[in-house]
Amino acid sequence: MAALIEAEEAGDRLTEDELAAMVFLLLAAGHETTLHQIALSVLTLLDHPQQLAELTADWRLGDSAAQELLRYVSFAQVSKPRYAREDTEFHGQPIRRGEMLFACLAAANSDPRVFADPERLDLHRQPNRHLAFGAGIHVCLGAKLARVETAIALERLFTRFPDVHLAVPRSDLRYSVRPGTRGLLELPVRW
Ligand code: HEM
Repeated sequence: MAALIEAEEAGDRLTEDELAAMVFLLLAAGHETTLHQIALSVLTLLDHPQQLAELTADWRLGDSAAQELLRYVSFAQVSKPRYAREDTEFHGQPIRRGEMLFACLAAANSDPRVFADPERLDLHRQPNRHLAFGAGIHVCLGAKLARVETAIALERLFTRFPDVHLAVPRSDLRYSVRPGTRGLLELPVRW
């Protein structure tokens, strides 16, 4: 961000609006999402020691595991807003032109018509057509990067600290109350 601000101050290479947009992208879209996703993934794996053991025995499972963790517990619970272009109806619910809508991605990710046994974490799940990154023309631009980051972070953490475990009772963990997201306020661990 310092480099971006320097570029902006050095002349006309970035407008102030472009700078604000880039900072938002780096912090909110790029950093916050991934850090929460990694923490949620660590917690989920600690909750499923059998699956964690399989993963640590063969890190080639890393990408598939990151995908399933995104499906099973995702930071972004809803899509970005969409606006109805005309009066319509969805599953019996009337929607008026101009109304703002959010798709509940977390619900789609546990749809039993798409995922066999959706409440079960299955790091081998194939295919895994989850919607944790949304869909359509506004699908997450950083999806590939986030998957790679998550897989690398899990491998580094559990390789370096194989005995990592929660430092507080599971029931003491607190979540942020920001609508549309599911993020841990903190994840205290020992190793
Ligand atoms: C695990 C981490 C991440 C999750 C769960 C996530 C999730 C999402 C979701 C649900 C959307 C809205 C999609 C829709 O409404 O259809 C989105 C949009 C977006 N994401 Fe991510 N994201 C993650 C990481 C990242 C990263 C690392 C970057 C960039 C470095 C990024 C950049 C963006 C951008 C630019 C958009 C807006 C795309 C548009 O409006 O056309 N995201 N993301």
